[in-house]
Order: sequence, then structure tokens, then C-alpha cells
Amino acid sequence: MKLIKVFLTGILTAVLLSGCGSQSNNTISSNASTSVDSSSPASAEENTGDEIENYTRYADYTPVKAEDAGITSGSAGNILVAYFSRSSNTSLDGVDAVSSASLQVQEDGTAIGNARQMAEWIADETGGDLYPIQTMYTYPMDYDQTVDVGEGQDKDGVHPLLVNPIDLSSYDMIYLVYPIWHYTLPAPMVSFLEDYDLSGKTVCCFTASGGSGFADTIEKIQKAEPDADIVEGITVSQSSVADAEAEVRSAAADLQTSYAPAQEENMTEKQTIQIQIGNQTFTAELEDNETAAAFREKLPLTLQMQELNGNEKYAYDVSLPSDAESVGTIQAGDLMLYGDDCLVLFYDSFSTSYSYTRIGHITDPDGLADAVGNGSVQITFSAE
Ligand SMILES: Cc1cc2nc3c(=O)[nH]c(=O)nc-3n(C[C@H](O)[C@H](O)[C@H](O)COP(=O)(O)O)c2cc1C
Repeated sequence: MKLIKVFLTGILTAVLLSGCGSQSNNTISSNASTSVDSSSPASAEENTGDEIENYTRYADYTPVKAEDAGITSGSAGNILVAYFSRSSNTSLDGVDAVSSASLQVQEDGTAIGNARQMAEWIADETGGDLYPIQTMYTYPMDYDQTVDVGEGQDKDGVHPLLVNPIDLSSYDMIYLVYPIWHYTLPAPMVSFLEDYDLSGKTVCCFTASGGSGFADTIEKIQKAEPDADIVEGITVSQSSVADAEAEVRSAAADLQTSYAPAQEENMTEKQTIQIQIGNQTFTAELEDNETAAAFREKLPLTLQMQELNGNEKYAYDVSLPSDAESVGTIQAGDLMLYGDDCLVLFYDSFSTSYSYTRIGHITDPDGLADAVGNGSVQITFSAE
């Protein structure tokens, strides 16, 4: 594993295997027994041996590996809606969604969990990015078996491994939406709090439950994240979720208004550049770092950028100061530096184990994939 990593750092390999270093659909998880921050998730592959046992010792079923659901980008930029919901962590094939108190049937006939439903309303209302907290392995399809697994994991202090790592550095405000399991936080939520440092962020909590409200979860989250500002949102009973859209949206909007001043301050500090592709112009906000400042000094800059992996365009010979970090999740519209001279513009979102220095992000990446097309493309970057 380590040998492979060393090998991959060679430029030749980077070009052959990944151009400027992207690797799509790479599932990584933090080791729940080790506290890591979002920029340094440990490799899950080293920890899978006993992990299945953390499910099967409580119920007779076969857990399967979760499919990385990724992140859905919103317009706000600095707001994240992170949710844990049973439906995002189990297979629902064959489950009677209509009669299930834990599921909300959508217009297209698909069913999603209560916490996910609330999270989707909050993300839509606030413009936040929507992020599913996912376990490496699925919970049982059978509800009662899930109760057994959830209760067992809580009692035994099992903290399941998570997948779909995320870089939280750009978020000031996090809505945390989760169900109550066994009168407290579901074990995967404890994993999330262990794996990520929410210091300095405002964390607004929303729960779905059978009637336990917030139970002891606000206190637990505050204890796990002593340097975060933990705010109580609202709690919705599972029997009322279907009728709670207005209430959830209103509570989310009120909280956003309360904490908006800090966000606006951050937004106005950001410098923007224009990115012209064909006859389309996109606006990107630059990071507040040395790399972005040096990049801006080079503008205007026209580059012939090469295609890679169906998710990025890259060009070498753009020498810039670098301070690479493991970014976890890449979002469409991210502009990054790979190594110290490879400029990368991503036009699709995925998880990666590669390290980059962030330069900026296109504020509205709608139409970006069509604009860049399938092959190499000429792109002009200019300061406003
Ligand atoms: C493992 C498990 C344990 C639960 N324990 C509780 C509980 O202690 N108190 C409660 O009010 N509801 C409990 N519930 C009900 C859920 O909190 C409720 O159905 C919630 O709406 C589920 O949200 P979801 O569909 O997004 O997972 C439990 C559900 C499960 C699956």
C-alpha cells in the first residue's frame, strides 16, 4: 500500500494513471478507533477485517459495502447539511415503504428516510451542500434487526467505519440531521464526531425520532466538539415528518439568518476571477491563500487543458507555491494545483485520496461539463 503510494508520486505515473492526480470513486474511511481530522482520513482498507463482525454479531444477515453517494453541491458555499439516515445506509429493495414509519415516499415512487427528508428540505432552503454520512457496511434491511444492531453497537461502544470522506474546511455552518437510536446518537454519528473536528463552526442539530426528541444528543455533541457552537434546531416525530416541511424549512431559515453575518463577512472577502470556455464565462471565487494569490498574478492566462478520467481538465507548467492537503471530496467547479505546476479544473464531483492545493471554486458550475466537452479544451482565466 505504502509502496504504491510512493510509486504514484512519480510524475510519469501521475500522467499515465491519473494526469494531474485525480482518482474517482475511491472509497476511503477514517478509522473510528483513531481520531483523525478531515484532511487526513486513514485508509479503510487496513481496517475492514473485523468490521463486518461489528454488524453480524448482533443480527443474522449479510452486510454489503455501501455505495459512495457523494455530495450534492448547493449555492451557499459555506453551509453543509450532513445527515445520517437508515435509508442511506441499507438496501431498501423489497421494503414496504408506504407502511414504514421511517420512510418518506417521494413523487417518483422512491423512498427516503426521515432524517434524509428533513436534510433535503434544509439544503434546499439554505443552499447548503448535502452530505450523507455513510457507513462502510449496510445495516439490515429488516427494521427490527437494525434496532438490534443499533442497540448492540451503542451498548458495546462500536463506532462503525465511515466512507465518503469530506473536507470541512470551507464550511462555517453545519446542519447535522440524524435519527435517535436507542435514546441517543446512532453509533455512526459518534464515528462522524470522532473523525471530524468541527471547532469554530456553528452546528445546528435536527432530529427525527419515534418520540425521544433530542434525548441526550445535544450534550453528547457538545462534549465531542467542545470548540464548536452547538445550536438546537427542531426535532420531528416520525409520524409527523410528512407534514413538517414548512416547520423544518422555517427553522432552518431562521438559524441561517441568525448566523448570516459571519457568513456574509467571509463571502465578501473572497476575490473572483473569470473562466472563459468557448462562449461561456464562469465566475470562480479564489481561496484566501498564497497559491491563489500567485495564480491571480499570472492572469490573464490561456491554456490548452487536457482531458482526464471524465472528470478533470489539466495543464502542466503553471508553477505556483503549493501547500497540498488530502481534500477528500472533489466538487465540480473546483480549481486546484496538483504538485507544484499542474493546474486542474474539475467538472465532476467524486471522492479522492490524492492531495491538492486549493485555488478556487466556480460558484455556479451548472453547464461546466458541457462547456469543457470530452477532449482537450482551451480555457482562459482572467482577473475581473
Ligand atoms: C436502531 C434504531 C433505534 C431507534 N431507537 C429509537 C429511540 O430510542 N427513540 C426514538 O424515539 N426512536 C427510535 N428509533 C426510531 C427512529 O429514530 C425514527 O424512526 C427516525 O425517524 C428514523 O429516521 P431515519 O428514517 O432517517 O433513519 C429507532 C430506530 C432505529 C432504526
